[in-house]
Amino acid sequence: MKLSIVGSGYVGLVTGACFAEVGHSVICVDNDQSKVKQLQAGQIPIYEPGLEELIKKNVAAGRLTFTASIAEGVQNSEVVFIAVPTPPREDGSVDLSFIEKVAREVAAVLTEYRVIVDKSTVPVKTGDKVAQTIARYNKKKVEFDVVSNPEFLREGSAVADLMKPDRIVIGADSEKAVKTMRAIYEPFKAKILVTDLNSAELIKHAANSFLALKISYINALSAICEASGANVEMVADGMGADHRIGRAFLNAGIGYGGSCFPKDISAFIKISEELGYDFKLLKEVEHINAHQRERFLKKIRETLWVFKDKQIGLLGLAFKGNTDDVRSSVAIELAQQMLKEGAKIKAYDPKAMDKAAPLFKSKGFTMCASAEEVAEGADAIILATEWVDFKTIDWGSMASKMISPILFDGRNLLNPDKMSKFGYQYFSIGR
Ligand code: UGA
Repeated sequence: MKLSIVGSGYVGLVTGACFAEVGHSVICVDNDQSKVKQLQAGQIPIYEPGLEELIKKNVAAGRLTFTASIAEGVQNSEVVFIAVPTPPREDGSVDLSFIEKVAREVAAVLTEYRVIVDKSTVPVKTGDKVAQTIARYNKKKVEFDVVSNPEFLREGSAVADLMKPDRIVIGADSEKAVKTMRAIYEPFKAKILVTDLNSAELIKHAANSFLALKISYINALSAICEASGANVEMVADGMGADHRIGRAFLNAGIGYGGSCFPKDISAFIKISEELGYDFKLLKEVEHINAHQRERFLKKIRETLWVFKDKQIGLLGLAFKGNTDDVRSSVAIELAQQMLKEGAKIKAYDPKAMDKAAPLFKSKGFTMCASAEEVAEGADAIILATEWVDFKTIDWGSMASKMISPILFDGRNLLNPDKMSKFGYQYFSIGR
């Protein structure tokens, strides 16, 4: 099928590459000319495992092209996907101006029937607004359908998530559009769930909020475990073995971050408020998330006494492992707080250093070329991102480079007994 995708960010780019991989002909549209030029030259603006190979392969096969012209995309495809950012406003609500602009631009170049699919995370009832906008700006009164098809990919495993999804959600009020959408997803051999437009939009916010709730639940339990001497990992294993609960997203840590959860949970609280419901449960999820970071900082402060003039080695800057994304990264927020309190920080991340560098203006912050360099003369090391690479560091040699081996593992990535054997005063979360 001929498809176009407006917006070449994480979702748009990975979706485009995966659609091309299963045989569709895909045009990726982006209004950022320099990004389009970069992509046309074979440079991929984000780090995502497997993405570069997939893009190169499908570009070479002639199934994937890039353009800055929305008209070119809309006129040469049967289905137009919208995958533009929906950033948060100051009050937590969602800024839908990019979606609205794309709806107007698509409407202006419509010449025959098209299915217009929203893939961005949007508040319930946005599809209705998109349909009204397209109807208003579609001067030739061409027939069209609007569909909601939320995306559930995770950064760091986006290609795998898209190629083998748990489910595909298609929210539509037209049989014709559902038939077209089923045809697009047929090669993925996945479970397809057809709903009305509003339900599909709600599923996305409901799913992300529930996952964040699981994380906050286990983080709250981690505080109980610390106070009682229980081990949060054992508790999570025991709970997670019940298939009604599941073990996934029960890893205690320094709290969730990233470009999705913090924004989506506040948005969902706001959306609920506008619909007349005070979602106190989700407010508590946010509260626990912020408190978890505070608890971690308190533990470090109590051990080091004061941050001023201390040299902290920071392992990890990305909001989670396997990505170079630093948006709303708890690792960065921790670093900024410690710098504010007078600490000096030497940091290392396998992929995120380029994106993190502009966020640090302080003289007290330096990037290192390796994890070993971070340990040199450090008063303590903080592990803040769950990179598997950090498991295989030579922790014995790291200990010998430090002033005194103190390690705060914010992701429960390392084995406490092993770390004690290396001589570390080792702290982790809830165990
Ligand atoms: C999340 C959802 O998992 C995706 O399904 C969704 O499509 C995406 O948001 C989105 O809305 O676009 P993502 O933000 O890429 O994906 O990352 P996650 O793997 O969900 O992790 C989010 C945060 O939670 C990270 O900071 C991670 O470190 C943290 N986390 C995750 C935990 O602290 N504990 C866990 O057990 C799992």
